[in-house]
Amino acid sequence: MKVIAVYSTKGGVGKTTTAVNLAWEASRNSRVLLWDLDPQGAATFVLNVKPKVKGGVNSLVTGRTDATASVRATAYERLDVLPADDSYRDLDLVLDAAKKSTHRLGRILESVAREYDVVVLDCPPGSSLVAENALRAADVVVVPLIPSPLSLRSLDQVVSIVTESAKSTPILAFLTMVDRRKTGHRVAAESLHGARPEVLAISVPATVVVERMGAERAPVAAFAPNTTAARAYKDLWTAVAAGVHLTKPATKPTKKSRPKAH
Ligand SMILES: Nc1ncnc2c1ncn2[C@@H]1O[C@H](COP(=O)(O)OP(=O)(O)O)[C@@H](O)[C@H]1O
Ligand SMILES: [Mg+2]
Repeated sequence: MKVIAVYSTKGGVGKTTTAVNLAWEASRNSRVLLWDLDPQGAATFVLNVKPKVKGGVNSLVTGRTDATASVRATAYERLDVLPADDSYRDLDLVLDAAKKSTHRLGRILESVAREYDVVVLDCPPGSSLVAENALRAADVVVVPLIPSPLSLRSLDQVVSIVTESAKSTPILAFLTMVDRRKTGHRVAAESLHGARPEVLAISVPATVVVERMGAERAPVAAFAPNTTAARAYKDLWTAVAAGVHLTKPATKPTKKSRPKAH
């Protein structure tokens, strides 16, 4: 099982959008669990899953309930969600009170390791204990960057946080919400590509098609497959899969999933 954390210190940079689209791409031939770690529950909402954690996140962290009790199937074969509900607001406190507080989420993931080939973590912004847990559990950290003169700084910040909590975990950054009509975006995009080895040559355009995910409650490729955005997320998944050496495709459905073709 490979764990992919979608992370940034910043909010509103496209983490959830990335997590949902990557998870969907991965589920074409792997069994995937998307774990929504953000109390806002945006990934839970987009994938049309009930925001309910059995016994609340406290029970999950303390081991009183199994993760599988709260996992829900989505409309897509091989894609399940561990949803977030309001109790996730307290996750940092719950983790802080637990033993081995920086490894708790990793422990929970071990309990579902047999069920899934890929886990995508949709992280909240900031450098909380939740983020530290996610980064420690991750095999790769995927970082969306909005092109701006500050984005290199925000990447540096992420690199130093990742290095502190999980020394050699690879980081893959890419540009998103890129508006080619804006000179500032073009300049920032050009300077970011090549400025750091972590920055992939992939950019997701700023487009209404991506914004529609909230209304469609679906990953972009599920309702608009022949778009630049859908292709960019497909390319991103290819790069991430190669980054974690994910080679063995598994076509078995997950226990929870109902069959529906991609
Ligand atoms: N490529 C894009 N084009 C247009 N809007 C986007 C794009 N990516 C994300 N958005 C929008 O930007 C907002 C923030 O994205 P989101 O994924 O929720 O960020 P985060 O999880 O980092 O807070 C959302 O309203 C989302 O629909
Ligand atoms: Mg989010």
